[in-house]
Formats: sequence, structure tokens, C-alpha cells
Amino acid sequence: MPIDFNKIPSPSFVLDESLLKRNLEIIQGIAVESDVKIILALKGFAMHSVFPLINQYVSATTASSVHEARLGFEEFGEEVHAYAPAYLDSEFDQWMSYCSHMTFNSLNQYNRFIDKVLDSGKDIQCGIRINPAYAEVSTDLYNPCVPGSRLGVRADAFGETLPKGITGLHFHTLCESDSYALEKTLAVVEEKFGHLLKQCTWINFGGGHLMTSQGYNTEHLIEVLKKFKSKYPHLEVILEPGAAFAWQTGYLLSTVQDVFESDGIEAVILDISVAAHMPDCLEMPYTPRIRGIKEAKEGEKRTRLGGTSCLAGDYVGDYYFPKGIAIGDQLIFEDMMHYTMVKTNFFNGVKHPSIAVWRQDDTLDIVKTFAYEDFKNKLS
Ligand SMILES: Cc1ncc(COP(=O)(O)O)c(C=O)c1O
Repeated sequence: MPIDFNKIPSPSFVLDESLLKRNLEIIQGIAVESDVKIILALKGFAMHSVFPLINQYVSATTASSVHEARLGFEEFGEEVHAYAPAYLDSEFDQWMSYCSHMTFNSLNQYNRFIDKVLDSGKDIQCGIRINPAYAEVSTDLYNPCVPGSRLGVRADAFGETLPKGITGLHFHTLCESDSYALEKTLAVVEEKFGHLLKQCTWINFGGGHLMTSQGYNTEHLIEVLKKFKSKYPHLEVILEPGAAFAWQTGYLLSTVQDVFESDGIEAVILDISVAAHMPDCLEMPYTPRIRGIKEAKEGEKRTRLGGTSCLAGDYVGDYYFPKGIAIGDQLIFEDMMHYTMVKTNFFNGVKHPSIAVWRQDDTLDIVKTFAYEDFKNKLS
């Protein structure tokens, strides 16, 4: 049955459990068929109430902070991979207590911490993030290979042998990309780092593989992965997407609070804030899809959907409502699971959307509501 949005309080993020399951089946299918490990990047999706479901399909998480590492370790499973632009001295022991794999961003970081790992006697696989200086990403905000990038070590910084204690390489250069972008990236990685690959036991291809999206050629991805594996049979291959797990699995439900004319544009105030609840729309930027409604074309009446914070730019774009719009109408923002809940904030103290799951048996679970204390506790 489709979700009955009338049953859900506004505002809410709503995950459709059946859609998540569908993505998990695709991801597991690819991992099994190509004999690679695919793990969940918590930075993109960290809704821990559904970790037990995800855990039935994948066995590990990857963390970009010690808090994510702890969340993965305590709520998901003991295999936690880690990469951060810098590990803090004060947190390093904690990192080591949670992680099975730790990737360093620079040779400085490696030099600073490698002995600590080796002396710990813990079975932690250490890696280095490489920067192949090649990325098929058009938005600089998401391009780790821009000139002057702080992310990863360039090929010319390595000698002929891997630094002592390093067993793996990690690259992350894709963003909502297809398998063809991965294929081209691998060619560059092999050309620049091939001699080091021979000395590794694992390689992590990072995230950005949008393998659950419509039109993604999963057969081609499997082919690319199998070909790579046949060339380097000694390597364990790891992929760590975030967005692909939660891609098109849920919504942000909101309700119209006010409608009025402003210089020929119909201004609408919603009970959500773009800046606080879907900041990617402003950062990237992009105009989110709304169920049943299209962006306004030239000549059509423009209805500008704005948030409830006082930031002038807290709006998502101009849409066309053929039947008009009125106070109390529900709007359903599509595809609002990845990089939303993990990025929300309490700006202006605006009401924070609840988090809900529409279960596979068509029941509704409100898994989290937010109160004044959540806002207050973030401040001092
Ligand atoms: C190092 C690393 N791994 C994995 C990911 C997850 O990428 P995505 O959610 O686009 O699949 C990111 C995203 O920024 C990243 O920086």
C-alpha cells in the first residue's frame, strides 16, 4: 500500500522501509556477484533505528568522525572503517577502540600515528588516502581533486614501496556517479599507483557510486569490479557509498503556513526550513522535487516555497501549482533521506521535523520527536 501521509504529523522525515529494502537487495546483489565488500558511509545516512534492517544486507560501516565510529561500532557491528582529514591526538585512542580499518589523509598524519597503531597490538588495517588528481565531478564543492585540494596524497609523494604498516589504499573521487566514471578513475589509479597496489591487501574505492538509482548500469559496474579483481586477485575491494543506500527511500513532509503575494510572486511559508532541514538544497544548490508539482516554467505563475527561519535565502525555488495553494496544504518533498537528517541543525530554534518509518506492513512508527531540550542542549 502507498504511504498514507494523512496519518503522519507535519513536519516529518518519513522513510519508506520497503524502498530501503529494495536498495539493500540491489547493493547486496552487486557485492555478492562481484565479490566486493560494500559498506555504509554514515556521513550520508545514519538513521540508526533502521540499522538492524541494513545489517541484514551489509556487515560494516565507515566513519568520518569518532562519533560516527562509535555509532557504527555500538549500533551496527564491530567492523568499522574510518577516514578523516585529520585524526585528533585527543581522540586517537578512541578511534582505535572502534575501528578495524583506519585510513590516513596525509603522510604527516601517517607519521604521527602509525607507531601508535602498530604498538597497540590491535588488528587494525591501516591505509592511506590517495588523490589521483582526476575526478569526474562538476561541482567544486564535491570535487576532492581540485587544485590545492587538502584530501589525499598525490602519486609523486610516494616512493617505490608502501610506507611501513600500510596495507591498503583509499580513494574517493566520485559523487552521484555512474560505473563509467568509476572505470575511467580506476584506469588513472592503476596508471599512477599500480606499483603500490601490488603491495596492498585491500583497496577502498570510496563513495559516490549511485548504484541504486534508475538507469545505473549495475551489470557494467559488476563487470568493472570483476575485471579489477581478476587483475588484482590478492586485493579485497571495498566500496563505501552513503547516498546509494537511502536514494529515493523517503520524504520530508511539510505543511503550508502562509500564502501571500510579493511583487508578482506567490510567497509561501512552510513549517520546515530549507537552511535547517535540507541545507544541501542551498549548498549544492539544487531544487528538490515535490510530489505532483513541477518547477514553474516561463510564463507560469510562480509560487516560491520558503522556510520558517528568518534567513532571506531560506527558500527552495519557484514552482507552479495548477490548482493553487492554500494554508494547511501538505507538500511532500521527494528523496529526502540521504544528506538531510545527518545535516540538519537547530538554526533559529525552528521546530525540527520528527523522524518516522513507514513499515513494510503499512504501519507507522514515529521513531523520534524533538523538543525544546534538544535545541537547548546544543547550546550553553
Ligand atoms: C571518503 C568518503 N567516503 C564515502 C563517501 C560517501 O559518498 P556518497 O554518499 O556520495 O556515496 C564520502 C562522501 O563525501 C566520502 O567523502
